[in-house]
Amino acid sequence: MGGPANIIRGGHDGVTAAAEHLQSGGLVAFPTETVYGLGADARDNQAVARIFEAKNRPSFNPLIVHVLDFNAASVLGVLDERARRLANAFWPGPLSFVVPRRPDCELSLLVSAGLDTVALRAPAHPLARDLLARFGGPVAAPSANTAGEVSPTHTAHVAQSLGTKVDMILDGGACAVGLESTVIDLCSDQPALLRHGAITHEQLEELLGPVEDATRPADGEAPRSPGQLARHYAPRIPVRLNAQDVEPNEALLTFGETTFGEFDTSLNLSPNGDLTEAAANLFAFLRQLDTATHHAIAVAPIPDTGLGRAINDRLRRAAEAHTDTHNG
Ligand code: TXA
Ligand code: MG
Repeated sequence: MGGPANIIRGGHDGVTAAAEHLQSGGLVAFPTETVYGLGADARDNQAVARIFEAKNRPSFNPLIVHVLDFNAASVLGVLDERARRLANAFWPGPLSFVVPRRPDCELSLLVSAGLDTVALRAPAHPLARDLLARFGGPVAAPSANTAGEVSPTHTAHVAQSLGTKVDMILDGGACAVGLESTVIDLCSDQPALLRHGAITHEQLEELLGPVEDATRPADGEAPRSPGQLARHYAPRIPVRLNAQDVEPNEALLTFGETTFGEFDTSLNLSPNGDLTEAAANLFAFLRQLDTATHHAIAVAPIPDTGLGRAINDRLRRAAEAHTDTHNG
């Protein structure tokens, strides 16, 4: 990191260097047939945290995990007959499935933003496929742009948008589709379209029968952004923010130097005060502290800068989950 973004040609050496960079926990922007993705090892919480940091997103959205094929996907998610039919027709290609994570799934919790589901896609671009094959594992990749900007379809867009925040850009020319992939939710009996893309609603219905259009709110309904549609994981016990002290029977989640003393159940998101490390630990630690032996989780203040904004956003939702009605 530091110097200018490293744009590399997509030959054998370039792909090998990119795969090695992913293996060492780094970020690589790479072309897909839809848009350029900002990739990291999807099993590595810390690497995935770097994606959110580079994009400067104020919240954690679940990311699409890229795989080579149906077999690689079925190790990560629960793929049913509908997924098999869709994959036979459209993979590799611009279609992502949201499916339940397998219980033994080795993916980062951060990649799912703490959800029990994951979005999976086998991209068609030859360079993306070369990279996945050489890397030999799942690659998490949102579009390779800063939050709020349009998705990049050229190497130059990636460099303009992310600058030195991306270590390496694999140059594959212009993206053929130029629009993000279609996203379909296969978690319940009724399949739901979450995002429009090159694979159309009609194409999906031809194979599956009726597919609910969940891309726009129905009249009078609250907006169903993907983040709301996805039933976000919230601890079962209450979460108390900005705690200055710890009450009896509370578990403690801290950050940086702590003045709380020693507790039976206390986890520090990052003793060194590193927000990337804190983001990487967040969902795993929340789950660890969410046990019936505690009445609540007390959370120490976390700086509201950089990745801290996304961490605080997520913690606020967890705290609010107990005052809202639970109707997903
Ligand atoms: O074409 C694409 O899909 C590009 C290229 C790089 O593959 N990737 C992309 O990723 O657009 P991203 O992170 O920008 O968009 C992911 C979309 C978001 O709308 C997100 O909410 C939804 O997929 N998504 C991902 N995981 C989900 C989940 N577990 N539940 C519901 N929605 C999910
Ligand atoms: Mg995007």
